[in-house]
Amino acid sequence: MPNFQTAFLKPLAYPLVFGDTHFLCEAFSPRNERLVMASIQGAKLLLRVMPKSDGTWLIKGDKATRPSQVPLLQKALIDFRNATQAVEIHSNIEPKTFLHVKRSPFLKELDFFAHAFNPEREIWLEVGFGSGRHLLHQAKKNPQIQFIGLEIHKPSIEQVLKQCELQGIENIMVMDYDARLFMEFLPSNSVGRIFVHFPVPWDKKPHRRVFSHGFVEEALRVLHVRGTLELRTDSQAYFEFSFGVMMALARADVHVNKNALLEISSKYEDRWRKMEKDIYDVTLCNEVVSKPIAPMKTLHFDRSIDFSKVLKGFRTETFRGEGFFVHFEEIYKVDENSGCIRLSFGAPERNEKAYVWIDAEGNARYLPETILATKSNSAADQYIKEWFHGICY
Ligand SMILES: C[S@@+](CC[C@H](N)C(=O)[O-])C[C@H]1O[C@@H](n2cnc3c(N)ncnc32)[C@H](O)[C@@H]1O
Repeated sequence: MPNFQTAFLKPLAYPLVFGDTHFLCEAFSPRNERLVMASIQGAKLLLRVMPKSDGTWLIKGDKATRPSQVPLLQKALIDFRNATQAVEIHSNIEPKTFLHVKRSPFLKELDFFAHAFNPEREIWLEVGFGSGRHLLHQAKKNPQIQFIGLEIHKPSIEQVLKQCELQGIENIMVMDYDARLFMEFLPSNSVGRIFVHFPVPWDKKPHRRVFSHGFVEEALRVLHVRGTLELRTDSQAYFEFSFGVMMALARADVHVNKNALLEISSKYEDRWRKMEKDIYDVTLCNEVVSKPIAPMKTLHFDRSIDFSKVLKGFRTETFRGEGFFVHFEEIYKVDENSGCIRLSFGAPERNEKAYVWIDAEGNARYLPETILATKSNSAADQYIKEWFHGICY
């Protein structure tokens, strides 16, 4: 990502407009790191000015607020370099360094599912599609279905996106996201089939398994009546565990099969078949109509916060709750009455990095401003507000 190193930075008088960038304010941490709040073409971002042991500074865009278009960050860094009259020792911020990467139209962002997804077709979901053989096969065979493929392994994602383009397959949406957290973005009773084929068994760390009570409950909510959650595995332990999770439900329509042949066999399946391993299928059928879910909101503060009290009470600490955590990482002050806190929080499987900015009037807001109120983020947000409350009142 774009950054530069310099031995000299002329102090700026904020607020300041330089080039295309509005530099709004600067905050300092006790470790002498500086955060510069900037805005360019409507995108709010933070530049981190980090002291190095040799007396120089490394300046880069903060990850949490990095705009989706890298050239905007590059331009803000160039404007900052020019405004501060920095002399670069090392730099990669000139536009030629980062070519515009064409994004595949099949790759979706979480915001799309939170705000713009309005499925008109039945959805089928595949969890951990790997090489994508099964997903691509099903999508070609069922053009009337909208497929969503979830994967966390980037090379597999790239491979499937490429195949979608090469084979002209248009009914697949690919999401780089943990399947254990994704389903809360889907409307109730909107999915016909959920495939979980050969999930990682995690025999030594069962808490990392895709299957859990919460996963199965959420699968039943998103499935149509008569829709199915379909597990296929070569691991007898995973089969028994998942079967147990399903049988722990108050009511369950469960079907079990051993060594059934499917039309398409994945790379993993080919390998296990060669080794003459048994393959288990467990299918859970949904029988109920679930309540619709409310549209996904973003997180906001509704009470004022006294930054001077936060400044006195802040210490780095971590809290772990049921399905969420909050790590209070660092405090930065603009002055005694305004500044921000850097946090990471959310689900243990996928954390958010964010800042809470508090101005001299006590108005507080998250940056980035678009943090989604998922279950784990909302639980963390409630804890964060109680934490501020404990310090301020
Ligand atoms: C053993 S491979 C099986 C791949 C494919 N289903 C097949 O049958 O060939 C498991 C896949 O699940 C993916 N995976 C593991 N945990 C996941 C999660 N929590 N969410 C989404 N994908 C996950 C892995 O990256 C891997 O590609």
